[in-house]
Amino acid sequence: MIDKKYTILNYGCQMNESDSEHFAGQLSDLGYSLTNDYHNADVVVVNTCCVRESAEKKILGKIGELKGVKTSHPGQIICVAGCMAQKGGDKLVKKYPQIDLLIGTAQVNNFKAILLDFLADKRQKVYDDVSIKETEFEGQCIRKSSFAAWIPIMYGCNNFCTYCIVPYVRGRERSRSKESIKKEIERAVADGFKEFTLLGQNVNSYGKDQGNRHSFAELLKECNDIPGVERIRYMTSHPRDMSEEVVKVVSECKNICENFHIPAQSGSNRILKAMNRGYTRDKYLELVDSIKKYCPEAAITTDIIVGFPGETEEDFQDTLSLMREVQFDAAYTFIYSKRSGTPAAGYEEQIPLDVKKERLNRLMEVQNENSLAKNKLLIGKKLEVLAEGPSQSNSEIWTGRTRTNKLVLWPVMGKEYTIGQSVNIEITSAQTWLLKGKAES
Ligand code: SAH
Ligand code: SF4
Ligand code: F3S
Repeated sequence: MIDKKYTILNYGCQMNESDSEHFAGQLSDLGYSLTNDYHNADVVVVNTCCVRESAEKKILGKIGELKGVKTSHPGQIICVAGCMAQKGGDKLVKKYPQIDLLIGTAQVNNFKAILLDFLADKRQKVYDDVSIKETEFEGQCIRKSSFAAWIPIMYGCNNFCTYCIVPYVRGRERSRSKESIKKEIERAVADGFKEFTLLGQNVNSYGKDQGNRHSFAELLKECNDIPGVERIRYMTSHPRDMSEEVVKVVSECKNICENFHIPAQSGSNRILKAMNRGYTRDKYLELVDSIKKYCPEAAITTDIIVGFPGETEEDFQDTLSLMREVQFDAAYTFIYSKRSGTPAAGYEEQIPLDVKKERLNRLMEVQNENSLAKNKLLIGKKLEVLAEGPSQSNSEIWTGRTRTNKLVLWPVMGKEYTIGQSVNIEITSAQTWLLKGKAES
């Protein structure tokens, strides 16, 4: 065994978090142990995101900083993985010679072999083939949480929304086999995990690359039935592909959480079309209605982009009115960021930054009102919460999440809780971002 250390700097979405857990598993297999201090690490993996320019800038700053760190730690191996690695290829390693290995998004589970190869010949290399088959991987990963597990069910995206870089850096849709997914969940249950989030860029098209249209609904049902599973979540859903069948399955299966994350992106038909989203405002609202009909207690959340090229004040007003009409529980709101290589980057009528910022502020104001109003409706209710641990600022207060994914805080009042424990909490007050309550005695 070698006495060597690794660290992983993770950026981006849940898929990257999952990939980082797979890097950690392979590093541990090779005898490396974790350090949180990258100054002392023998292997540093920077797992990158390029969905918006702001993410990319921050990460490039970090890669720049690692040059100095490596000078004072000769022999340190710097691996840049993830979506920027896939996008940047040779250019990135030329500009940043401190990078030893560039590992594309389909190479995650080849990492062990890649690192061994590097240790043998110490030559800088780029691995950015996205066409390889990684879908049946069953190697070990080291999960960050002790009770909630990410479970990738498919890789890539075929949608090509005109603003989005993801299909270019994650490749075409590839579904993992149901057997492999279920085996991973069963193993994690045996290790004490209770909550499982099925991951993919567009989970509703799971199985379509294998010719099965109903596959996601079937997968949900089968995961719901695995003994020991307490909660199933999934992300992300595409409103165009989310069928009423899936909504019904969620309402019927007791372990599937009543939380629908359905990114609307805009409330204007004109902008939805320019974004290539494949649905209209009315179709989106039909989906919301069917969720409200079959799962009245469900939380509905969304993603919105403001300032897409050509977005007029009228288009933006359509988005505001959609927010007011649906009353989302929460919304992730973004300023449109130009991504070179995507169609929208070449569109005329790019919106000035000050207009985008001003729209974002107005949007957040409406959403904050909605979030607070929705949370206040829960005062007096008893909700099942999975405990996540003491709050950072006060060990006498514990935190956890409801099935609808809302953050709840409660005082321990002399009781002992364990991470992952299911606790019934009566909600006593509500804020925009969280609920407070007391545990049932
Ligand atoms: N596959 C998922 C996640 C995509 S990235 C989905 O389709 O929802 C997460 C969010 O980032 C998107 O929903 C979108 O709102 C936002 N996003 C993607 N590209 C963007 C861009 N160029 N500028 C601003 N926000 C963007
Ligand atoms: Fe991007 Fe659209 Fe694919 Fe989501 S569905 S990853 S927004 S292209
Ligand atoms: Fe970012 Fe790649 Fe995820 S671009 S959002 S890390 S798929």
